[in-house]
Amino acid sequence: MGLKGRFFTLLCIIGVISILIISGASYLLAIKNAKEEARRKVELLFYYQKACLDYFREVQAPLVTELVEKDRFYPELMSEFAASRLIHEKFEAYLPGFKVKYASLNPLNKKNLADARERELIQSLSGEGAGQRLQGFFTENGHRFYFWAQGLVVKKECLRCHGDPVNAPKDQVEVYGSSHGYGWKVGDMAGAFFVYLPMDEIFRDATMLGLQVFGVGAVMLLFLIVSIGVFLNSAVVRPILKLSAQAERISMGESLDEKVAYERDDEIGMLAKAINRLRISIVKMQKMLQG
Ligand code: HEC
Repeated sequence: MGLKGRFFTLLCIIGVISILIISGASYLLAIKNAKEEARRKVELLFYYQKACLDYFREVQAPLVTELVEKDRFYPELMSEFAASRLIHEKFEAYLPGFKVKYASLNPLNKKNLADARERELIQSLSGEGAGQRLQGFFTENGHRFYFWAQGLVVKKECLRCHGDPVNAPKDQVEVYGSSHGYGWKVGDMAGAFFVYLPMDEIFRDATMLGLQVFGVGAVMLLFLIVSIGVFLNSAVVRPILKLSAQAERISMGESLDEKVAYERDDEIGMLAKAINRLRISIVKMQKMLQG
């Protein structure tokens, strides 16, 4: 293989390896940023939701309790969990894939029943203790999600509605029945607050970024190879081939009176100068031999 061929092979190998490393690194960096972004989004959603819940409990529910007839209980107005669920349903219609849920192993409302994964997480939160959070990724039906789960511990005041159904508001028992959502114990993990974030698009964007960096790198490598090729051909390969043909002719005693051009002052110019001196010496020696 000629010098040019070897040079290009080396350039291609180094170029392709560098592009693969750079695009791989961009992909990993984009994934890392996407995960951090997901964590921030979930955190925002979580605290906004928590603030709404606090507002319902501290401001709305006491006011509504004063306004409605004694012993009446309207879950949509007086239970922050019912109000939140109804708001989440609207929210999820605006942003499909996002999900907010107060899941429980023994819920009043069957819509809040924990699925298998949530059950497992609630159980592991019970071991971790109150206030603990779990977060991570999972794939469901081919879609990737990021989740955040915070445990909800049963306090004394929860028992009015989640303890014995006999003591619970009559309207509540009427709406939800008395067979589930009761019998909770203080200190138990009532359930957990889950926030789900769809990650498919985020991962797709990261892959696209990796591919784009690869594409730009490949175009630049091609441009570099073509430019170096043109330069090598005109500045190195062709002059060397010309010089070697001339040196070959001189070695065979041909074209001895044809001067070897050496206008350039680089290495090729020096080589041409040397071949020209060789030609002059051969001419002189020939003359001496003839003389
Ligand atoms: C005034 C009654 C009332 C009190 C007090 C109450 N809840 Fe509830 N809770 C409800 C109702 C009603 C629902 C059903 C909401 C729905 O329809 O989604 C509910 C739902 C829940 C859910 C979702 C699972 C389920 O049972 O459907 C959790 C978790 C929960 N409550 C935790 C608590 C905790 C923890 C406390 C105490 C800090 C508490 N609740 C106090 C009435 C109450």
